[in-house]
Amino acid sequence: MSGPAPIPDAELEAMERVAVDLARLAGAEIQGALGRTLAVRYKGADAETVSFRDPVSEVDQRAEALIRDRLAELYPRHGILGEEYDEKPGDPDACVWAVDPVDGTANFINGFPLFAACIGIVHRGVPVAGAIWCSTSHALRPGTYHARRGGTLRFDDERLERVANPAIRRRLAGEPDVAAASGAFDARKTGSAAIECAFVAAGLLSVARFAAPNPWDVAAGIVLVEAAGGRALTRRTDAADWAPFETFAPDAGDRLNAWRQPLLLGHPDDLATYTAPS
Ligand code: IPD
Ligand code: CA
Ligand code: CA
Repeated sequence: MSGPAPIPDAELEAMERVAVDLARLAGAEIQGALGRTLAVRYKGADAETVSFRDPVSEVDQRAEALIRDRLAELYPRHGILGEEYDEKPGDPDACVWAVDPVDGTANFINGFPLFAACIGIVHRGVPVAGAIWCSTSHALRPGTYHARRGGTLRFDDERLERVANPAIRRRLAGEPDVAAASGAFDARKTGSAAIECAFVAAGLLSVARFAAPNPWDVAAGIVLVEAAGGRALTRRTDAADWAPFETFAPDAGDRLNAWRQPLLLGHPDDLATYTAPS
């Protein structure tokens, strides 16, 4: 089966630049709100279904609205799948922008300084470019990790290469359930799936596993990790073994928004260690 015609690199590079601008725009909204008392509500239709695990702040909504306005001007034919508003369908051949304006909202509203803004670009189910603004980084400052298919991982436009220190015998894994984590790594739960993706790409985490992420949590991160020489694995809910992640839409007609599968990101050697029978 032949895949979709690739997007010309110049076009993809231009979209990567827009993703960086949009991630920085959301990052500026987040930083501008620091120290203010934020309006926060919890998702759920009514008092019965409300989940205090699922907060949304005024910043989440404002940042996504700004991002949508910018995309409507620049790419009116493209789709938008964002966390805070209804999906905007685009032309079938056009890209879909997977937008999480604030990832790690529970951290953000509590002032715990680990959160991100995540812009992924998906073409016919395949993540092709992305940018993640992170509240902190390998450089101990906020900044934006970004990449496109066939390109290299960059941090604020500078090329970034993973340098592993062979003296370190026990490295870190991002885990949704620290108590049940694989024993080969020290487990970390950060509260931001997008930051974990960016940190795997940058080599701060060796691997990260997500139990049932949304496409907007991980679309950008998959591109970043692959650009850094890593791989993404997934498995269908009825499957025991991890297999290479290829697309958010494995079956014809699948909607991006319907995808919810476990995901594992890492460098090939670390993935082999992580998935080896214990
Ligand atoms: C959440 C964070 C969290 C992950 C959840 C996500 P949000 O995103 O990434 O780390 O465990 O599954 O929904 O709600 O803060 O954008
Ligand atoms: Ca999220
Ligand atoms: Ca979010």
